[in-house]
Amino acid sequence: MAASLFVSLWLLSIVMGHVTGVTRDWRLRSAVPGDPGFHDNRASSIPSTPPGPEPEPGDLAAAFKVPTLDGEFNYQPGSLDGSVVVHAFTNKSGFLESLWSCPSSLSSLVQDLPGSTSLLFLSLDDSAASDALWMREQLQRAALRSNKKEVLTRLHFSPVPVFALGNWIPNILYYWGCKGHNCGLSQAAFTSDGWKIPIIVKRLDARYDWLMARWGSNSQRLVDAGDGCKPWPAVAGAVAWVSDGNCSFFTKVQNMAKSNASGVLVFSLPGNPIQDMNCIEDECNTPLNIPAAMVHQEASVAQALLLKQVVSVSFQTTPSPNFFFAVDHQGALAEMGWFLYPTFSFINWQAQWFDFSADLQTKLQSPAKVVSVFDKVQMQGEKGAVATVDLPSDLWDFDTLELDASLSCPGRRDSSCAVWDHTVQLFVCCDQLGPYCNTELGRWITAFRRGIGRWLTDVSPLMPLLDTNRCTFTMKTVPWAKPWIVSLNLRFSANNQTAGGLEKVEKFRPFRVESLFTGGTFDKDYNKRYRPMKFPMPPSTRKVELYAVITGHGSDENGCGEFCVTSHHFLINAVYNNTRIFDSAGTALGCTKRVKEGAVPNEHGTWLYGRGGWCDGLQVSPWRIDITKQLDFAGVGSNTVIYFGLFDGRDPNPSQQPGNIIMSSFLIFYK
Ligand SMILES: *[C@@H]1O[C@H](CO)[C@@H](O)[C@H](O)[C@H]1NC(C)=O
Ligand SMILES: *[C@@H]1O[C@H](CO)[C@@H](O)[C@H](O)[C@H]1NC(C)=O
Ligand SMILES: *[C@@H]1O[C@H](CO)[C@@H](O)[C@H](O)[C@H]1NC(C)=O
Ligand SMILES: *[C@@H]1O[C@H](CO)[C@@H](O)[C@H](O)[C@H]1NC(C)=O
Ligand SMILES: *[C@@H]1O[C@H](CO)[C@@H](O)[C@H](O)[C@H]1NC(C)=O
Repeated sequence: MAASLFVSLWLLSIVMGHVTGVTRDWRLRSAVPGDPGFHDNRASSIPSTPPGPEPEPGDLAAAFKVPTLDGEFNYQPGSLDGSVVVHAFTNKSGFLESLWSCPSSLSSLVQDLPGSTSLLFLSLDDSAASDALWMREQLQRAALRSNKKEVLTRLHFSPVPVFALGNWIPNILYYWGCKGHNCGLSQAAFTSDGWKIPIIVKRLDARYDWLMARWGSNSQRLVDAGDGCKPWPAVAGAVAWVSDGNCSFFTKVQNMAKSNASGVLVFSLPGNPIQDMNCIEDECNTPLNIPAAMVHQEASVAQALLLKQVVSVSFQTTPSPNFFFAVDHQGALAEMGWFLYPTFSFINWQAQWFDFSADLQTKLQSPAKVVSVFDKVQMQGEKGAVATVDLPSDLWDFDTLELDASLSCPGRRDSSCAVWDHTVQLFVCCDQLGPYCNTELGRWITAFRRGIGRWLTDVSPLMPLLDTNRCTFTMKTVPWAKPWIVSLNLRFSANNQTAGGLEKVEKFRPFRVESLFTGGTFDKDYNKRYRPMKFPMPPSTRKVELYAVITGHGSDENGCGEFCVTSHHFLINAVYNNTRIFDSAGTALGCTKRVKEGAVPNEHGTWLYGRGGWCDGLQVSPWRIDITKQLDFAGVGSNTVIYFGLFDGRDPNPSQQPGNIIMSSFLIFYK
């Protein structure tokens, strides 16, 4: 690859009208002495296309063998009781350099890699042998620091470059390719009149959630601004060239923004890696509107600036092979999604999801009466997906109803999936004329550009709604969303086993569902809309449950209701305060904690942030609370319930763009 980059630079320099001849000191490595003999074997660096269709995500992975520093990694279908994540490193990527250098990234891998996961590390470059030794050393040191040596037995490092593996792995990496945060080679290209050819170096842009501004495609003047720790008027209109150190990244970018720079390039001090430039704590509350990136110091650039020569810089991304793929527990090839910033946590999250998915497969093997509602049906537009199905006539033999729902995409790659995290609702109508026609039976949120989501949701308390033999199910999301492919099975089962195999557990059976309150615009009048509801106790009631599905959406000046902490209170008989608080809303990693429960990881967008009662790519779990003891069973009509919703413990009072709460809530009567 070093050789082919040279060819393209050489062509570029001809195009630019310069005489060629001198090769510059690119930041690109050539073969290291001692590498197994893969010097300039360019023929083998071009992946050959095997006959037959290319492997796609979901296809079974064929057997493969890869030489490693310790011997060989030998994958045989069915031989592993877990997943394998394959990562191909290249030091031509600033993103990967940072991923492999940042202590918190390395320690997250050794501390949190699920026990079922093996990792195979490859290198795309001629320097594979030294890359493998270096990667192993980085992780060995991190494992020693964290006292987690066990993990090392599951990490495998290959000294053979990807282009010489002689198996199908390169085909996946090259053919799948990728776009977005974790791949492609982001670069800064410098030119100066004194130079024959441009100098092109890798760069890592500042964190996605901090500096939103992006580099333009035009060439800009580069101006030295020292360490960037004080304003520097000379950079007005130019890209500031600033050294690392002496003050925070935030201070540098803020000073340069105040000086009207068009962007900032921070170079690392000699011997230091490229870092993930981020803001810290309160700094993050001040928006800065210029782009910034980190690069290595470049001697020729520094020298030209010192000599007051004009240096220009432009920004480019060169496509690259994919750096990641995986083989899941079932032996199927899988994409790894987007890595929003350089940390191995994204590998851990995807691996946690493989574990979740394998457990789900096991659960789906347990006995149940399965009624298929949608089988890979397209859901789009006002209508959504609609089906009328016959239900089992022996409903009363079952005490459990689960929704087994999945959302996939029109194509097999995540790149074919719809964008954004939208609400998906399932409505059921069993009696066209009854008050419960089109009651919400389930709710999910779409996974932003990922097609792997599948969830099992227990909605047993709502079984009385299905108490006829034929029902119509409608599943829909916002009408403007691109299509999703939905599958939905109703799983009826009897969980009435005896506890410990001996004692018969007393069973309650839901026989009546009463609708309570719905949500609405989350503004100062939100709680004025609600009045206490009196409810009679149906004869033979033995237990009463509160059942609610609540999610917060929209964004007022406090981030309500998606990213603010709201609480939802159901006050029974003016005394008992049943409270649901969305306290992880707005936290930086709130939704990563729910990957183990099936939240789809490594989506596009900001799936990591905690939200008001939901996560991207997850079902909204019903909130259930037994209120039997709060009720008066003696009198008739003597029980009341009132709902109110608060922001930070107070009535909401937004000054602009109020958010909204989507809520279905019920009383469930059991006998
Ligand atoms: C990666 O590249 C940087 C500069 O380009 C260099 O300092 C560093 O030693 C390289 N790391 C490896 C493992 O080759
Ligand atoms: C940090 O500040 C000192 C004192 O002003 C200066 O000599 C030094 O060059 C600065 N360091 C960097 C990396 O710019
Ligand atoms: C930056 O631009 C603004 C608006 O054009 C101007 O008022 C200000 O003086 C400039 N600041 C510097 C440091 O050049
Ligand atoms: C409970 O289990 C028995 C036998 O295993 C079955 O016949 C019955 O239908 C189940 N359901 C209920 C709700 O009792
Ligand atoms: C219910 O509890 C919440 C928080 O725990 C509190 O803010 C609210 O005032 C309580 N309401 C009543 C009526 O007790």
